[in-house]
Amino acid sequence: MNNNIKNQFPIFSKNKGLVYLDSASTSQKPKVVIDKLVEFYTEYNSNVHRGLYPLSEKATDEYEKVRETIAKFINAEPNEIIFTSGATEAINGVSRSLYSSGFINVPPKITLTDLEHHSNVLPWQDLQPEMIQYLGLDDNYLINDTKIFKDSDIFASIHASNVTGTIIPIKEIITSNENAYSIIDATQSIAHMKIDVKDLDVDFLTFSGHKLFAPTGIGVLYIKEEIMKELNPFKLGGGMIDEVTRNGSTYASGPTKFEAGTPNIAAAIALAEAVRFIDSIGFEEIKLSEERLRLYLLERLDEIENIEIYHPKNVTGKEALAVVSFNIEGIHSHDISAYLGEKNICVRAGHHCTQILHRDVLNVPASLRASISVYNNEEDIAKLIEGLKGAIKIYKK
Ligand SMILES: Cc1ncc(COP(=O)(O)O)c(C=O)c1O
Repeated sequence: MNNNIKNQFPIFSKNKGLVYLDSASTSQKPKVVIDKLVEFYTEYNSNVHRGLYPLSEKATDEYEKVRETIAKFINAEPNEIIFTSGATEAINGVSRSLYSSGFINVPPKITLTDLEHHSNVLPWQDLQPEMIQYLGLDDNYLINDTKIFKDSDIFASIHASNVTGTIIPIKEIITSNENAYSIIDATQSIAHMKIDVKDLDVDFLTFSGHKLFAPTGIGVLYIKEEIMKELNPFKLGGGMIDEVTRNGSTYASGPTKFEAGTPNIAAAIALAEAVRFIDSIGFEEIKLSEERLRLYLLERLDEIENIEIYHPKNVTGKEALAVVSFNIEGIHSHDISAYLGEKNICVRAGHHCTQILHRDVLNVPASLRASISVYNNEEDIAKLIEGLKGAIKIYKK
């Protein structure tokens, strides 16, 4: 299956021998998505919601249809879908809007996890909370600490870790305190498993399109309809108003209220194409393939001496994504990554925007990360292992 899928990504034919194991950072783009961008710019490029001529009507129509595609993809309603530039903008916006709408106590109490990406830490710290509770990671890199403090205003969490691959039992955590607003960052999980916002019963959910085979600069923010109605917008300007007078303004309702300014129209339309690409494979196939490679990667990493692996042991794909971080004793992750880079093998080295996890839990400043997607195969993993053995020979002399 994977070679057939790999062939649909032009980057692999333009870069012969490329081993791309950094999809947790950004995914490669299939030809259908790239073609969709070109189609927009060559056939009906114009602004949305403004022109009363056919080109703009076509652009508006295509853009609004994306809302329907995304809604179906995550089991929401189209009027619950807002487009943002990515997860970072969405989380910043939600934190500010919850505060400015008077939805939370000032100063608020906030629950996060030990695994948070900085984009799900800094916007909450910026609210100067009275307290932040961090749900802890156990020895097997899983979150078993599933109880939100009873007076927490907010539970903000990633759905899956961009370092350990851990899938967080968010449904269980949310039910432990239904008074707290739940904001889930599904940026890592969205391309790898089915997300159903109704089943999870989340208040807010966001993801960035570029990790889902779509272009950069487009993201999605789901807001439960009854919350959206009462929530203040986090961006003000053109396109989101009802009426503007010298002394004040009123706002449009629904998603429009949150989409001030010209959106990334082409990227939104290409995002819908990325969703159709995923649908054409199906999450069952995706999971089967990524789980097979996750287990193969773990088995092969076992051949490496003095390796510390930050990933749950003896779990299934329901508990962990195919994202595996590790360190090899005595060699800096940056050196290994640069060595692999020379061999056309792309893995990430650093703290992966998770300093709290690295410093306070893993007790290391940085790690190497291999992350798997639909276009990877066993050969990619074999080349990575060969590369790691080569790096050890050079750096451990
Ligand atoms: C879990 C998680 N959340 C948020 C982000 C930030 O995404 P973006 O930079 O696209 O806003 C990332 C990016 O790596 C991520 O892994």
